[in-house]
Amino acid sequence: MKILAIESSCDETAAAIIQDGRKILSSIVDSQVETHALYGGVVPEIASRRHMEAIVRVTDLACQQAGIQPPQVDAVAATCAPGLIGALLVGANFGKALAFSLSKPFIPVHHIRGHIAANYLAFPALKPPFLTLVVSGGHSLLVLVKDYTAFEILGGTRDDAAGEAFDKVARVLGAGYPGGPKIDSMAQGGDASKYKLPHAKVKDAPLDFSFSGLKTAVINLAHNAAQKGETLDKSALAAAFCHAVVDTLVPRLELAAKQTGIQQIVCAGGVAANSWLRQALQAMAEKLGASLYLPPLSLCGDNAAMIGSQAYYEYLAGNIGTTLQNAFATAEIQENICVKIS
Ligand code: KG4
Ligand code: ZN
Repeated sequence: MKILAIESSCDETAAAIIQDGRKILSSIVDSQVETHALYGGVVPEIASRRHMEAIVRVTDLACQQAGIQPPQVDAVAATCAPGLIGALLVGANFGKALAFSLSKPFIPVHHIRGHIAANYLAFPALKPPFLTLVVSGGHSLLVLVKDYTAFEILGGTRDDAAGEAFDKVARVLGAGYPGGPKIDSMAQGGDASKYKLPHAKVKDAPLDFSFSGLKTAVINLAHNAAQKGETLDKSALAAAFCHAVVDTLVPRLELAAKQTGIQQIVCAGGVAANSWLRQALQAMAEKLGASLYLPPLSLCGDNAAMIGSQAYYEYLAGNIGTTLQNAFATAEIQENICVKIS
């Protein structure tokens, strides 16, 4: 089964054609990063307008790369939640209209389910159940993936998502946007022990975590140094920050692995590209004797290939959209975002 998938939840316009949920026939990602970098973050209206301009070209390119005409696909899928609503509406409405014009099924996909599914493309043998650490710009969750379309949240952030914290710290350190990759490279060679940063715990919730105290500590350090006219060792501070994020996430994932007894561990989302996190996860998996699945860097950030992979399993589960399908700025990963005819 060939699915044409569309992704437009934030600042990447993407289209891909995926076979049977596992094989990438084509994948095109058109990033708006340079536009938003001028403003230090994503400007929602600009993102929506750029999606509108790019979506036909990106879809066309995905079809050309796969050597397929739109009528030859078996279904069309699009990210319908969560994300910036104006941005989501562009891809969701385009995908829905394309599906109905071709008389093919339309499959609405949850963006975070898609991030997890990126691993099905990279690892053909990977099957649920497994434990996932989801770390993206908007979400940080510990998820038990019981089946392709059955999820249980075991823990998560009480405030900022990991990627959000990276982006805010990058802004304070003048590293630019998007912050994650910039902080990652700034931290290389830095002395992580030079600055002491808080590693917060959430009372009575051992699998939950928090990044706002950590973020505030970095902001205060930077402001105090500026006030006193001191030079900040940015590389050391970035390293201490990466270390603190990793030290917040990895022990909770380890605890979840011990509590559930699950030996397959997956990481997903933009922050899964972080070199400090990848190293720490490898060390943790070795210690536990668990199998670790880290998506290749090309599949960590937003793309439509991951949406096409998850769409296949949503289709098999009967989660097919109707003409009433809408998009939603927020939706939990366990929710079925298909709008049924009542
Ligand atoms: O999953 P994603 O592409 O978009 C969302 O669904 O949010 O994640 C984007 C986030 C951004 O906050 C970005 O700064 C972060 O992932 N990111 C990283 C790295 N590469 C991207 N964070 C830390 N280290 C990286 N190497
Ligand atoms: Zn994402």
